[in-house]
Amino acid sequence: MNDQLYMAPLLAFTDCTFREVYFRHFTGIDGALAPFIVVSENSRYRKKAVRNLLPILHDSIPIEPQVLSRDPYAFAALAVLLEDIGFSSVNINMGCPARAVVNKGRGSGLLPYPDIIREFLNISLPKIKIPVSVKLRTGLHSHDEIFPLIDVFNDFSLSQIIIHPRLGINKYEGPVNLDIMDDIVDRFKAPLVYNGDISRDSFDGLKTRFPSINRWMIGRELIKDPFLPGDIKSGVLSERTSVYGERKGKLRIFHDDLLKAFSQIIGNEVALVGKMKSYWNYLGSLFPDEKDELEKMKKILKLDDYRKCVDILLGNH
Ligand SMILES: Cc1cc2nc3c(=O)[nH]c(=O)nc-3n(C[C@H](O)[C@H](O)[C@H](O)COP(=O)(O)O)c2cc1C
Repeated sequence: MNDQLYMAPLLAFTDCTFREVYFRHFTGIDGALAPFIVVSENSRYRKKAVRNLLPILHDSIPIEPQVLSRDPYAFAALAVLLEDIGFSSVNINMGCPARAVVNKGRGSGLLPYPDIIREFLNISLPKIKIPVSVKLRTGLHSHDEIFPLIDVFNDFSLSQIIIHPRLGINKYEGPVNLDIMDDIVDRFKAPLVYNGDISRDSFDGLKTRFPSINRWMIGRELIKDPFLPGDIKSGVLSERTSVYGERKGKLRIFHDDLLKAFSQIIGNEVALVGKMKSYWNYLGSLFPDEKDELEKMKKILKLDDYRKCVDILLGNH
């Protein structure tokens, strides 16, 4: 399969530790967009957020950093810094639906304002040498907001446009709107990357419905079903995800590596267990018959108890 698969940015989930461990154990992903770094109007950003990107410069999978900002000068300055560090592309977040972000006119808060976006790109892009991509939703309040934005984006040279066909106000709820995708899919100058609810069940239908798209970005389902990208690439999607035999063993080894990696950076036991449990909120869907055990896990605070629970779910090898 010639299609490109990307790991979506999931703040607090697909950080550099997770990515590094994931790429050692699973195949199928061609590139990843890192979770956003916020940069304020006075160019303030958390140095740790940039430092966190650094180990992956040595990674075999290309990583694109993402910036969340409404200030073109601050965005450009950070993009230039990222370029100096060694990154070969950068992404602008125009999709984040969090109220605090939208209220500041960032993320999907930009989408109702095509003139502001035009100004943002007009000022920032000439200052940046590396390719710039945009990740956006189809609107904040209405899918109609996407139409004037297409004209804006088509006036610039963007490396790709990652589109998640949901409204900002709908956060992550409800179905993706594929009808709006039908209307816009062939109107962008830049290559489109489709994002939103890609799963074992939906992928073939999306490919058939949007034959001109060959770039796909997978978010939550990659954590729920880590084998998914590899199975898409090798065309064995119909194979059920239920974790049995060899797959259970692979998941166990991946899990243990992830726990080890996080235990090296999270000293506090409760915080470490909390971090691991957050993955199980997604991964738990592979274990429909283990609802009681997964419920029990939610209350666990001690590492020993957590390990016992994982032994039951993944087997003790
Ligand atoms: C917990 C969480 C964190 C996210 N963090 C980011 C982020 O940092 N940057 C971004 O562009 N999108 C972020 N997203 C959105 C995802 O990248 C993606 O667009 C969305 O989940 C839809 O894709 P999916 O259905 O494959 O998950 C986040 C989503 C979730 C659920």
